[in-house]
Formats: sequence, C-alpha cells, structure tokens
Amino acid sequence: KMSRRGPQEPPHLPALPVIGSLLSLRSPHPPHVHFKELQQKYGQTYSLMMGSHSVIIVNQHTHAKEVLLKKGKTFAGRPRTVTTDILTRDGKDIAFGDYSATWRFHRKIVHGALCMFGEGSASIEKIICAEAQSLCAVLSEAAAAGLALDLSPELTRAVTNVVCSLCFNSTYCRGDPEFEGMLHYSQGIVDTVAKDSLVDIFPWLQIFPNANLHLLKQCVSVRDKLLQKKYDEHKADYSDHVQRDLLDALVRAKRSAENNNTAEISAESVGLSEDHLLMTVGDIFGAGVETTTTVLKWAITYLIHYPQVQRCIQEELDSKVGGDRSPQLSDRGSLPYLEATIREVLRIRPVAPLLIPHVALSDTSIGDFAVRKGTRVIINLWSLHHDEREWRNPELFDPGRFLNSEGTGLTIPSPSYLPFGAGLRVCLGEALAKMELFLFLSWILQRFTLSVPPGHSLPSLEGKFASSVNRQLGDSMPRSFLVKKHQSGSKKSNHGG
Ligand code: HEM
Repeated sequence: KMSRRGPQEPPHLPALPVIGSLLSLRSPHPPHVHFKELQQKYGQTYSLMMGSHSVIIVNQHTHAKEVLLKKGKTFAGRPRTVTTDILTRDGKDIAFGDYSATWRFHRKIVHGALCMFGEGSASIEKIICAEAQSLCAVLSEAAAAGLALDLSPELTRAVTNVVCSLCFNSTYCRGDPEFEGMLHYSQGIVDTVAKDSLVDIFPWLQIFPNANLHLLKQCVSVRDKLLQKKYDEHKADYSDHVQRDLLDALVRAKRSAENNNTAEISAESVGLSEDHLLMTVGDIFGAGVETTTTVLKWAITYLIHYPQVQRCIQEELDSKVGGDRSPQLSDRGSLPYLEATIREVLRIRPVAPLLIPHVALSDTSIGDFAVRKGTRVIINLWSLHHDEREWRNPELFDPGRFLNSEGTGLTIPSPSYLPFGAGLRVCLGEALAKMELFLFLSWILQRFTLSVPPGHSLPSLEGKFASSVNRQLGDSMPRSFLVKKHQSGSKKSNHGG
C-alpha cells in the first residue's frame, strides 16, 4: 500500500557518476554484514548505485516477502552479467534465466522431473544413503586407526556423488581423474562467478576481471564437454520404459511436451532446446554441490564447538533409531532436535546471504518506496536472520529456539527466516538439500563423535572471506578431525563429558 503522500524514493547512498556508490561501500566486512550495518544510517530499505545500475537493498522480512511473494512475479527477473552469460549460454538455465514463458515452462519441467524421479523420494533416499554409507566407511577406518582425518574432501565427494547419481546415474571413487577434473572446474567456476557477480555489484573489484574471464571460459568448456558426453550417451540408449536418472526424466518430459500438440505448449517447448537441458544439469551441479557441502561443514564446525548439542542429537538418535539400523527419511518426524539443529545452522550461517539478485520487471513499489523497472533488488538474508527485533540473541547458536516449549516438536519462532528464499524463485533443490543434510548428519552422528585432535584449537566461527569473495564459508573448517566411535546406550559415558 502506498502512503497518502504517494510513493517516495528510498533513502539513497551518496553516488558519484561512473563509480556509483563505490566510496560508501568500502568496508573490511563482507557485503552482507556491511549492508546490515548501513541500516543504521539509511534505514532498513535503501538504494545505491552499483556502477550504472540502481540497486535496492532489503534488510527486513516484510519488505522481503513483498518482493518474493506478494509481488513475486513483478520481481522475478534476473540481471544479465558477462559471466553468467558465459556460464549459462545466455541465460538458458533456471537460476540466471530471466523471467519468461520459456523459463516458467523450463522450471516446471525440471521440478516435475525431480519429483517424478523421486517417486515418493525412495530412489533419492537410496542414492543419499549409499553415499552416507561410503562416507561412514571412510570415517570408520580413521576411527579404528585412531588417526585424525580431513573431512572436507570426503563431504565434497559425498555431495557431488549424490548429484552425479541423480543426474547421470554414475558415481566416482576417491581419486578418479574425471572426478578430480570436475572438482577443479567447479571450483574455478564458483570462484570466478562469485567474483564477477560482485564485479557487477561492487565496482571496486574491477581490477581483476580479465584473467578471471579467461579461467571461467576454460572451466566452462571442460564442464560442457563432460555434460555433452553424458547427454549424448543418454540420448543413444534412451528408452521410454526405463528412467535411470534426472537426465532421462528431462529428455522424456521434453519429448512428451513436444508431442502434446496444443499450440501454446508446443510453442513454448520449441524454446526448450538441448542447451536448456544441458544448462539445467549444469545448474544443479552449480547450485547443489557447493551450497550443501558448505552447510554440512558449518554444521560440523558448530557441533565441535558445542559438544552438548552433538551429545543431545546422539541421545535422540540412540533412543529413537537405536544402533541396529541406519536412520532413514521416515525418522525425520521423531528427531526434532536434529532438525532444529539443521534449521539453526541455516539461520545463523545462510549459504546464500544475498540470495541471487532479483530485477523489477515493471514500475512498482516496495512498502512506500517507488521502484522503477529494471531496478535490481538484493534481499539481505543475513539481516533477516540476525534481526535483533525478531531473534533473541541472534549471534548465539541455539537449536532450542526452533523447538516448542516442551522440546518435543518443531516451530519457526519468527517470520524472518527464509534460508531457501520464497515464491517463484524459491530454491529448486530445497527438498533434496534437506534430505541430504538430515541423512548425512544422522548417519555420521549415529556412529561417530567428532572433535578436533588434542592440541588443535577450535576452528573459527567467523568464516573466511578473503580468497574468494563470495564464500564467507567453510574455509574455516578445521583440516583434521578426530573421529571416535560413538557408543550408544549404557556406555554413554564414552562420549559424555
Ligand atoms: C536458488 C538456497 C541447495 C538448486 C536458491 C536460492 C537460495 C538457495 C537462497 C535463491 C533464491 C532467490 O534468488 O530468491 C539453497 C541452500 C541449499 C541449496 C541453502 C543447501 C542447503 C540446492 C540444491 C539444488 C539447488 C541441492 C539442486 C537441485 C537451486 C536452483 C536455484 C536455487 C536451480 C535457482 C532458482 C530460480 O532462480 O528459479 N537456492 N540451495 N539448490 N537453488 Fe538452491
């Protein structure tokens, strides 16, 4: 609703021609933290210039929900950038594709294929459990030998293999050269895109774009060769009767849409080229591996800082699942403390603190503020999740805040909580990611107790922000963990303190 005075301009950071609000944006803190601080001076919603683009920063949940939900369609656009165009063949993917009939249709097909593939999530569950099993086998060896272990590559491989099984029906062993190659190019892409999307946003970073662009093109071409190979293999032995993986499901969905001859649908599906299917799989790797791995690393980092939380989850697992079988998705309802811990990790360390920028597709408003067509909107999830008016002691890690007063059921204590976004652009992998987080953590904690080896200091909870600017995360993960076998039941004193 607009005020009686009519829509006004949001408060604006000082801007100079060409460099935009560059000088006001200098900060030793990562952008999401700095944007939260700027509220003190400019209010919760304010605008600034990034280069020649007008950008609105939203730091509170009512405005965030107006953008994502109430006016979701108006704000469903995405900016085009040099790097995302290279990465996605000019936006033929879902995450960076601008809002259009083709995009809508594309997203619907992929969503359908993910559900269809799941078939009650049974096969996705099987895939994740197979990876959890092999992860636990590695930990078991370390525990038996009493050796400290670097968990980071193990988690990355487990999460990558889930995505590989899901998309291609194939997995990799430790040290497989194709797998190492994939990790290498993924890292290259994450690093350059993170930097460039920031070049676009934060012009002071423009000092290093060109070497990066070259690296990005190299990584993308390696990725594309691999994707093309998998796609060709799938097309060669495609059958309407068997569906081995997501790629089969996509090919099938595309075919059946094309055969469904209503003029309207086929016009849209003509827009859905092979490029779109390839870029979809690229998206799932791009959006699905780094994010989930990082959340797992944060979860484990918090668990070793808060051994009482780890113990509490283990006691819950001992009493609800026991030691004779492995946890499964159907146990989720009876493990509220583990679920609350996952929610709290996603709150306190959101992996995508600024979501992906949205773009206003027409003249509109946010609250009382006028917003012109083409304006970029950044939702600062960091501000929402650390808002002092909404969360008691927001800096404190406290899974209990997501439990009801009896501690028996889950709640969401504030509407200022959107770890996967919301609305038309909500994370497409939310369900998959939650299954992975639940299964990996429950399998590990049922069997093992994690700690830093004696003499090692606890890892930082701040997160590193230096090398690749967009990753506040995970780099602070300790290099070595001591893995001890978890003794359930009467021998609980072994992991008790
Ligand atoms: C988008 C969070 C895992 C696929 C997003 C967005 C967030 C997010 C915040 C942006 C929403 C917006 O721009 O408004 C997360 C978190 C994850 C996770 C916290 C892990 C814990 C995954 C996985 C997949 C995935 C496993 C794989 C299927 C996507 C896609 C988009 C997206 C395709 C773009 C959606 C669009 O633009 O329409 N995610 N994500 N994500 N995510 Fe995830």
